[in-house]
Amino acid sequence: MSRKVTAPGLRQMMDAGEKIVCITAYDYTSALLCESAGVDVVLVGDSLGNVIQGHSTTVPVTLEEMVYHTKCVRRGLSSPLLVADLPFGSYNVSVEQAVSSAIELMKVGADAVKLEGDYTDEIRAIVKAGIPVMGHVGFTPQSINEFGGHKVQGRGEGAEVVLREAASIQAAGAFGIVLEMIPETVSQRITESLSIPTIGIGAGVNCDGQIQVWHDVFGLSARKLKHAEWFAKGQEVFGAALTEYISSTKSGKFPTSENSF
Ligand code: KIV
Repeated sequence: MSRKVTAPGLRQMMDAGEKIVCITAYDYTSALLCESAGVDVVLVGDSLGNVIQGHSTTVPVTLEEMVYHTKCVRRGLSSPLLVADLPFGSYNVSVEQAVSSAIELMKVGADAVKLEGDYTDEIRAIVKAGIPVMGHVGFTPQSINEFGGHKVQGRGEGAEVVLREAASIQAAGAFGIVLEMIPETVSQRITESLSIPTIGIGAGVNCDGQIQVWHDVFGLSARKLKHAEWFAKGQEVFGAALTEYISSTKSGKFPTSENSF
């Protein structure tokens, strides 16, 4: 078995110049694949609202649904760090609500939680409860309605805003921070100024690690996003297998006596 990745351990990886590889996963089978391939961090992301539930945003995802998927992933995962997303509405009301939601995710097996935006009081209180917190700035999908769509953040004067947020999230005690869809120059400045690892998605090459959504890595998403790379042609491979299963069954080629008892 490989080493257990911990929240403080990510800092050591950063200091050693080792890139941190993170991916989302939402179920047991995918977790097993992450385990055997040697991923560093698995995020049970609220992007499951898009890719699992078929919503157009992550806004409808509930804490109960995050608890369910965290349990599924936990059963397949030992070595990678399991970070679970706090969904929209589970930490935005009060510090007490944020701590109680984070505790729920930890109780079902998360190693750490992630939340979006400059919620420094909430981060401080969750960390005080003994729970490692990952921050998330730039394009934060739960605020898509405020942004008016999937838009790159931190351009022009916005750069200083993202830099300030990242610094205050580190000061609040976060062990790492996701930088999503911000210019490469801005993510470089953040990465150079922070002492915690930066994990990029659409934030260029200079981050300490990268995170991708499962469906984007495997070519299962509807279209290839600029910040993603399809490392497999998932739609083609699965589509061809399904077509063959249908034709084999219809023609009587499957099952054979080999498949029978
Ligand atoms: O929910 C998610 O998948 C995320 C990543 C895109 C960072 O927050």
